[in-house]
Amino acid sequence: FHNPFIESVRPLIELIDSLRLIGIDEDIGLPSIAVVGDQSSGKSSVLEALSGIALPRGSGIVTRCPLQLKLHKIKKGPWSGTISYRDNKETFQDPLKVDHLVREAQNKLAGNTVEICEDLITLEISSPDVCDLTLIDLPGITRVPVHGQPEDIGKQIKALIEKFISKRETIILVVVPCNIDIATTEALRMAQDVDPEGHRTLAILTKPDLIDRGAEADVLNIVQGKVIPLSKGYIVVRCRGQSDINNKIPLAKAMQTEIKFFRNHRYFSFLLNDGRASTQCLADKLTKELKSLPYLTEQIQTRLLIVQRELKNYEQGPPMEEEMMGPFLSKITMKFSDSINELSRTGHSKHIN
Ligand code: GDP
Ligand code: NA
Ligand code: MG
Repeated sequence: FHNPFIESVRPLIELIDSLRLIGIDEDIGLPSIAVVGDQSSGKSSVLEALSGIALPRGSGIVTRCPLQLKLHKIKKGPWSGTISYRDNKETFQDPLKVDHLVREAQNKLAGNTVEICEDLITLEISSPDVCDLTLIDLPGITRVPVHGQPEDIGKQIKALIEKFISKRETIILVVVPCNIDIATTEALRMAQDVDPEGHRTLAILTKPDLIDRGAEADVLNIVQGKVIPLSKGYIVVRCRGQSDINNKIPLAKAMQTEIKFFRNHRYFSFLLNDGRASTQCLADKLTKELKSLPYLTEQIQTRLLIVQRELKNYEQGPPMEEEMMGPFLSKITMKFSDSINELSRTGHSKHIN
């Protein structure tokens, strides 16, 4: 199978990695993945499964500030995390501290209550066990304010979500539990507003273990795009439920359980082979999507043009072709040595002063 588009983008992906290394993130919006969905739909759980980082999650409003999770893969070395927000910055070595530190950050930013805040918390993780990805966890959509929340909390949350998902370099994961009516999902509508063609929207169906008996066929219709067709389709994942968390079931174990769950499922087992079920499938699909985001090609080409133009201002820039590098360098060296000779002979040189 040969996809000329993917083939043409592949070198750019490697280029992105090197651009990131020299800190060019500021010039080019590097891709990130954001989650949208109702409160308690499973957004943090999906991000947790993708990243392997145990994030705060649970019932009620848990995620109250946008959390940017920057994962850096390192060749070897110990796990290291740095959390930063406002004037705070702390580096730590114990992955189990993430939950506490994020909650503490939220309390400092949004107060120790149920309110939200649009200040960003950034958590950078370096580990040999992660992939280079930026994930964004966001507060869930709510309609009715709970005690202690302002009347317009729903509006505030939607504005915050919109700010993140309207960026072209963001892949939108719309998270919808299998056991609710997808047609009424506000999150899907919001994604469709900012990405009408659905080029960067992927729907994730969570909690397949909580489907009412008899409703499996309805869920299958959704997954197969018969209810609301989406150009990038749907993926079903089963994350850790509250009892798994209470019983401290590790993430790795939970992923094995997930595969077993789908393999033995009377209605869903075929989705596993189809690439439409499991966290692993989701991760594979996202990797592919990131590689084919069309805006990247555009941005890098624009950047390249600017740099090439800048280069023209200099007498003679280094050649673009690798095989020309040798002759180029030897020419410069010769010129330099000529100038040195001239300088030592005459006391001055037109090139060196
Ligand atoms: P968020 O508010 O959208 O971030 O949702 P959370 O990730 O905090 O999840 C809300 C609750 O649903 C938590 O208790 C999770 O353990 C639970 N949960 C998430 N995914 C699943 C799933 O696939 N199956 C089950 N049984 N519970 C899940
Ligand atoms: Na929640
Ligand atoms: Mg959450």
